Amino acid sequence: MDFETLVNERRSIRGYKPDPVPREVIEEIIDIAKGAPSSMNTQPWHFHVVTGEPLERIRQGNTERNLAGVPAQREIPTHGAYQGIHRQRQVNVAIQLFEAMGIARDDKEMRQDWVMRGFRQFDAPVSIVIAYEKSLEPATICHFDLGAVTYGLVLAAWTRGLGTVINGQGIMQSPVVREHAQIPDDQVIMTCVAMGYPNENFAANEVKSTRTTNDDIIHYVGFGD
Ligand SMILES: Cc1cc2nc3c(=O)[nH]c(=O)nc-3n(C[C@H](O)[C@H](O)[C@H](O)COP(=O)(O)O)c2cc1C
Repeated sequence: MDFETLVNERRSIRGYKPDPVPREVIEEIIDIAKGAPSSMNTQPWHFHVVTGEPLERIRQGNTERNLAGVPAQREIPTHGAYQGIHRQRQVNVAIQLFEAMGIARDDKEMRQDWVMRGFRQFDAPVSIVIAYEKSLEPATICHFDLGAVTYGLVLAAWTRGLGTVINGQGIMQSPVVREHAQIPDDQVIMTCVAMGYPNENFAANEVKSTRTTNDDIIHYVGFGD
């Protein structure tokens, strides 16, 4: 698959087959992903690959805490709700996903069910928690590096027939993840990636989210027009 096709075909996968992902395949994918550039070649990423019982315990803990109304406990600073054009883009993809899944706007129960699925990392057979060392804080550059490696990871997974969704929902209750994924005290949880073989009958997997026009985001200087 050429790079352009890979980028255009990849999309977030939110419905998985239960089939396990072989450890050798995960190893291969991480091997490719770690070719990402990083600030001064620091390679500040750590991958905690979780499956089976520990992942079930994370799903259960996330579900219980969210149903109990425990506020999110992220380990990196977040900015709260998106506003303006960012909020609009968030709403646009949610509309696409809900339409595909037949979830009506006013169907609170189904919407809640969808949110809870997210907290279960869409029942994927594998979750990769991506972390960096606390000693790197304030970690803005390191966040950049982890973003780069994570994109490499999801693209590499796609070339092996594996779907992924990068998700904040899975690590929103970080104490649960920290405990069951055995994250060392000197590391900070940045995000996680749910991974598995896509369920072809799960409608949301077909959703192709939209992108802005280049005019909205590119500023050319010195091109003479
Ligand atoms: C940092 C980050 C966090 C995300 N968190 C979630 C999440 O919690 N739940 C979810 O369903 N998707 C999550 N996503 C996936 C985005 O919604 C998705 O990438 C975006 O809508 C574009 O769609 P695409 O990946 O299909 O191109 C996240 C993506 C990123 C990069």
